[in-house]
Amino acid sequence: LGQHFKRYRRVLSLAAQKRCQAAAHKLFETQPSIFPSPAPLLDLRSLRKSQSAVESGLSLASDPAGIVDFLDMINNLKGDSGRGYYMQMVIGTPGQTLNILVDTGSSNFAVAAAAHPYITHYYNRALSSTYQSSSRGVAVKYTQGEWEGELGTDRITIPQGPSGTVTINIAAILTSEGFFLPGINWQGILGFAYPLLARPDPSVEPFFNSVVRQTGIPDVFSLQMCGAGVSASTTADPAGGSLIMGGVEPTLYQGSVWYTPVLEEWYYQVEVLKLEVGTQNLNLDCKEYNSDKAIVDSGTTLLRLPGNVFSAVVEAIMQTSLIEDFSTGFFDGTKLACWMRGESPWRLFPKISIYLRATNTSQSFRITILPQLYVQPVTSIDGTLDCFRFGISPSANGLVIGATVMEGFYVIFDRAQKRVGFAVSTCAENGGVPFAEIAGPFLAEGVASDCTSGVPLREPVMWVIAYALMGICALVLIVLLILLILPCRRHRDGEITDESSLVRHRIK
Ligand SMILES: *[C@@H]1O[C@H](CO)[C@@H](O)[C@H](O)[C@H]1NC(C)=O
Repeated sequence: LGQHFKRYRRVLSLAAQKRCQAAAHKLFETQPSIFPSPAPLLDLRSLRKSQSAVESGLSLASDPAGIVDFLDMINNLKGDSGRGYYMQMVIGTPGQTLNILVDTGSSNFAVAAAAHPYITHYYNRALSSTYQSSSRGVAVKYTQGEWEGELGTDRITIPQGPSGTVTINIAAILTSEGFFLPGINWQGILGFAYPLLARPDPSVEPFFNSVVRQTGIPDVFSLQMCGAGVSASTTADPAGGSLIMGGVEPTLYQGSVWYTPVLEEWYYQVEVLKLEVGTQNLNLDCKEYNSDKAIVDSGTTLLRLPGNVFSAVVEAIMQTSLIEDFSTGFFDGTKLACWMRGESPWRLFPKISIYLRATNTSQSFRITILPQLYVQPVTSIDGTLDCFRFGISPSANGLVIGATVMEGFYVIFDRAQKRVGFAVSTCAENGGVPFAEIAGPFLAEGVASDCTSGVPLREPVMWVIAYALMGICALVLIVLLILLILPCRRHRDGEITDESSLVRHRIK
């Protein structure tokens, strides 16, 4: 069988191989995983109560007053997994039209407000009569890239979104580093996560909270990203997608929707119970899959896995795929793999399944991605070779269900009911064969009742502990000082002031 499969992988000529590697190098230097999210600096817990109070009132079942027409929103996105999916927005008065990246892994709305070599135009605040500065600075660091700017508010409309004008917080980006990249066609970023991630603090109301509060649409949005199987290097005709604000559009998915609870409202944090490569269970302690968190993030290109999990997946793929002597450079992202045109390599790779906790917590369901989603075409050479990259990478800050996986599904961010839904997307298929599958329910017994506790503490908690320890140290020092000073002074009665003598008498 091994011999049979090997036949499909042609040995490249040395020259082609070199070009292929050069291409791989270029691609991976610029874009392994573009916008993973800012690391939190606050104690997120203390703010949780007020947050859920805000959201609990919102569970409208359907369109309240014709504010939302989902059909208008279909195909309102452009882009691909490598450079992100963006939507057109009109900012200020008179309106300035900009393309804005959709990112479910952060919570600020930020747009370029000054020229930058990699963007074509920017938001000019001086030309907007409705812009109001709040004279506060703001800075956000992503896993890749960072920016600094000024906070303010302005009015916006979304041509293919809910009708009406909304006043929202805007961060005007004045300087940035590694944030705007060559070849992107967007000028700003729209963070759809919860207020706890907003910078400089959660009082800066995120865009979608403002939209829900001001228009009355249900507190739900959903995303269909349609770049699967499309080469990420073709700029001419970017793939599309849909961001439905206010609900769920049935024509964007097939089969049923499975929901997983949002564990904590900061990122869209979910609980992963199990991973399978082909039919092989990785059999790791389920806490490893959620270390230190598992999130759903449209602004991250790849499926990112904690180090141990990544190694286990690569190991299992190498066993299952029957591709011997397959270059490890492919899996660590430094090399592309190329096949003769027309020889689809996808048949050589296994499916990968992620089991998520169902809303009935004693059950789970699985989302399955076919190799068409994680072995991604990026470029071709001489018109005879097609080259692919590996759509999975290791992560030091948790599991990220990024665009690689999301492109197979219609993903519903049901904030009103604190859950994220998955259904097979209508746009992820080729010749009637879908690139993704979904199945359930499975019994979650045998899996720990909680796969998230006991993982390393999150950064904000560490800060609280650090400050608490510092406080205790300071107290101990003060007590020690008092104990040291007081006995000495007792021998020098003449020098004591009235104040300290009070203390002295009490010690007696
Ligand atoms: C949850 O799942 C368990 C196991 O399948 C089942 O016995 C139970 O009835 C379910 N609970 C609800 C509320 O559906």
